[in-house]
Amino acid sequence: MSKVVFITGASSGLGLTTALYLQKKGYKVFGTCRNPSQYEKHYPFTFLTLEISDSKSIQSCIKSVLDQTGGRLDVLINNAGVGITGPIEEIQLSAVKQHFQINCFGPLEIIQAVLPKMREQGEGLIINITSIASDFGLPFRGPYSASKGALERMAEALRMETQSFGIRICNIAPGDFISNIAERRHNVFLNKDSPYFKTYQFNLDQMNEHVDNGIDPKEIAKKIESLINTLNPKVRYKVGAPLQKLSGILKSLLPSRIFEKLLMNHYKL
Ligand SMILES: NC(=O)c1ccc[n+]([C@@H]2O[C@H](COP(=O)([O-])OP(=O)(O)OC[C@H]3O[C@@H](n4cnc5c(N)ncnc54)[C@H](OP(=O)(O)O)[C@@H]3O)[C@@H](O)[C@H]2O)c1
Repeated sequence: MSKVVFITGASSGLGLTTALYLQKKGYKVFGTCRNPSQYEKHYPFTFLTLEISDSKSIQSCIKSVLDQTGGRLDVLINNAGVGITGPIEEIQLSAVKQHFQINCFGPLEIIQAVLPKMREQGEGLIINITSIASDFGLPFRGPYSASKGALERMAEALRMETQSFGIRICNIAPGDFISNIAERRHNVFLNKDSPYFKTYQFNLDQMNEHVDNGIDPKEIAKKIESLINTLNPKVRYKVGAPLQKLSGILKSLLPSRIFEKLLMNHYKL
């Protein structure tokens, strides 16, 4: 029987590419987004409605998968997520809370919803799509780095808690990949007289350029498929350009002031 894969955020970018890739490889794929009617005609896998910041939506979405598979769910890919940028002083706290709801608390709630079934099955795989940006607090992306880092720490703990039940948990931390993340991203609006205006604008332009020049998301899809077929995956995999993958290693090797100086030079701060 084909393995059942449930992937959030399958209408675009990394999620869509992965859903199509796995469907083609013979997996039974359920992908989510907020407005399936916009996409379901165009793609061969099953679309389900999910608003990740809404508990009821999460519960009914998982129930719908289990109803359609005779109660089976083999792989959860916690992929849906959004970006947020801005100087921390000027980001509204409500926006940060909403951001954590989508990038951290929602994915956590989905994990809690699937664990009982995976325990009952005596097996299951959970993959969180986090970010290389969770290796350190990136200027003007503090809440994003923090939300992804928080999800990673949670998964590290959960992995040890659930290993004896046959459940495998890991994080994939991507670098820059071509997707629509820049269009969905919440960018703080700054007045021209903001003390951060110039440096923020420069960094925002750089971020958009990096995504546009990113890697083909198929690399993520291939990594995910290889992990589905790995008996004992590592806790974290970085997938991205060599320099981006190196940055976390540099942080652990270099004296903190030097690493910070490198980052500040890079971001022209
Ligand atoms: N692209 C990169 O360079 C990169 C780098 C590091 C990490 N990542 C991570 O990779 C994941 C996928 O991002 P992407 O680059 O593929 O972005 P994307 O093209 O914007 O796709 C985001 C997906 O998440 C869904 N989504 C957004 N907000 C949602 C909400 N409130 N409730 C439910 N679904 C929601 C979107 O569905 P709707 O149709 O409902 O909007 C869409 O399917 C994210 O977690 C992102 O942080 C991406």
